[in-house]
Amino acid sequence: MPGHAIEITDLAFHWPGHAVPCLDIPRLVVAAGERLFLHGPSGSGKSTLLNLIGGVLRPDCGRLRVLGHDLSALAPHARDRWRADHLGFIFQQFNLLPWMSALDNVTLPCTFSPRRAAEATRNASLDDEAGRLLTRLGLPESHWRQPARRLSVGQQQRVAAARALLGRPELIVADEPTSALDAELQQAFIDLLLQETAASGSALVFVSHDRRLAAHFDRCTGMTEINRAAAHGG
Ligand SMILES: Nc1ncnc2c1ncn2[C@@H]1O[C@H](COP(=O)(O)OP(=O)(O)O)[C@@H](O)[C@H]1O
Ligand SMILES: [Mg+2]
Repeated sequence: MPGHAIEITDLAFHWPGHAVPCLDIPRLVVAAGERLFLHGPSGSGKSTLLNLIGGVLRPDCGRLRVLGHDLSALAPHARDRWRADHLGFIFQQFNLLPWMSALDNVTLPCTFSPRRAAEATRNASLDDEAGRLLTRLGLPESHWRQPARRLSVGQQQRVAAARALLGRPELIVADEPTSALDAELQQAFIDLLLQETAASGSALVFVSHDRRLAAHFDRCTGMTEINRAAAHGG
């Protein structure tokens, strides 16, 4: 098992056409199983950093290792496969398939990843394990077979979280998934995410512009602390 979920050294990234770099990060390490809260104002490069971690974008230079791997060294197909095997991504807009049931949205990554399917079905069937997570996250069984588009924002958020958690990927990345919820629901959702990642031993990088949500994480850091480009107003 690698010692680090994420290891960044001297990473730089600029968007094409932008004169100033978006990210200039001398060092960022997230330990295996660590839950990190990363805050920063809108435009400070949080989503860009998560896309680099997910292998969607490539750094201009520097070292970026995710679970010990350099994703930019993999061919696109191998990178997609690696992502399905090891990474749970909770997007800001959830990215559920609207016509598909809540349950089928949750189990979808396991159809791309036999590794995650095997992990998810160690003690139960795939649907039972998806149902266990949805129950833990507070989505009643009466909603499991409804198309995702018929669910409320808060319910869709629970489906997105269960999808990311199913099969215990070693790293969960969450990009402002609580921004559409009121404050009380936000903290309750985060506490559930922390409990589930603790139970599965997954590392978690949770990104938000609202640092008041940072309670209960192992560590809290800001883009202005880790990103020299943000510190200089880039
Ligand atoms: N697809 C893109 N093309 C060009 N510039 C982008 C793109 N996405 C983000 N940026 C720029 O990168 C900077 C950081 O954006 P982003 O990572 O989305 O910040 P945050 O998630 O913290 O709000 C912004 O200046 C933004 O304009
Ligand atoms: Mg963002």
